[in-house]
Amino acid sequence: MSAAASTFAQKAQSHRFYDSTIGKKAVMAVTGAILFGFVVVHMLGNLQVYFGPEKINAYGELLHSSPGLLWTARLILLTSVVLHIVAALQLAALNKKARPVGYVRKKNIASTYASRTMLVSGPIIFFFLVYHLLHFTTGQAHPNFRAGDVYHNVIAGFQQPAASIAYIVAMILLVNHLHHGVWSMFQSLGLNHPRYMPWLRRFSAAAAILIGVGNISIPVSVLAGLLQ
Ligand code: HEM
Repeated sequence: MSAAASTFAQKAQSHRFYDSTIGKKAVMAVTGAILFGFVVVHMLGNLQVYFGPEKINAYGELLHSSPGLLWTARLILLTSVVLHIVAALQLAALNKKARPVGYVRKKNIASTYASRTMLVSGPIIFFFLVYHLLHFTTGQAHPNFRAGDVYHNVIAGFQQPAASIAYIVAMILLVNHLHHGVWSMFQSLGLNHPRYMPWLRRFSAAAAILIGVGNISIPVSVLAGLLQ
């Protein structure tokens, strides 16, 4: 086979893979894993607010010190967000096509509350992300934004109860989304041996709750006056 023909055959194969439900689930799992990794690292970075302004501002400076690295990471995250959303919408459309009439009486035997709400929590988290970037990264949605002063931006931002409540609600939805998302990721990647299932379920729940509690503690501490 010529090189051009073999490239064509490879492309056709990867198209066929993506066209399948399994291909889309694999894309959701890999992009979900990247986004989950970011959320874990970001939460650990956020917790540095408890060590005072120098620590978290130095962390912010470090992130911005290498524009090449920063923009590579941003590009990977943005691509992951786009692919995650496109695959989710396509999977939802395929599910609907497979059962256009719906069940006469809908019984949610195998599904959980979280799995049924993925298509609601997902878009809300997306809108939260847009608000969050305008709030803490670019400052347009911040009442008193100071470029480069992460500590001030977080404290002044969360001193507004409405902003804190919006974050807390978004984080509760994030816990819900991650709980089911991390679990589904393991399933899609084939980590579904019956012996590991209970542990993977526990890991998904614990990881989601830790991320939620870590992040929610920040607006709560600001509103309680513990961080100022
Ligand atoms: C209470 C929770 C959170 C706090 C306090 C927080 C804080 C911050 C701060 C201060 C920045 C700006 C950093 C800088 O410019 O140096 C930032 C950026 C960012 N945050 Fe959060 N964040 C929280 C939750 C989240 C969540 C849950 C997500 C994802 C779903 C997220 C995604 C991002 C992204 C994508 C950026 C932009 C990074 C960049 O490209 O510069 N954050 N966050």
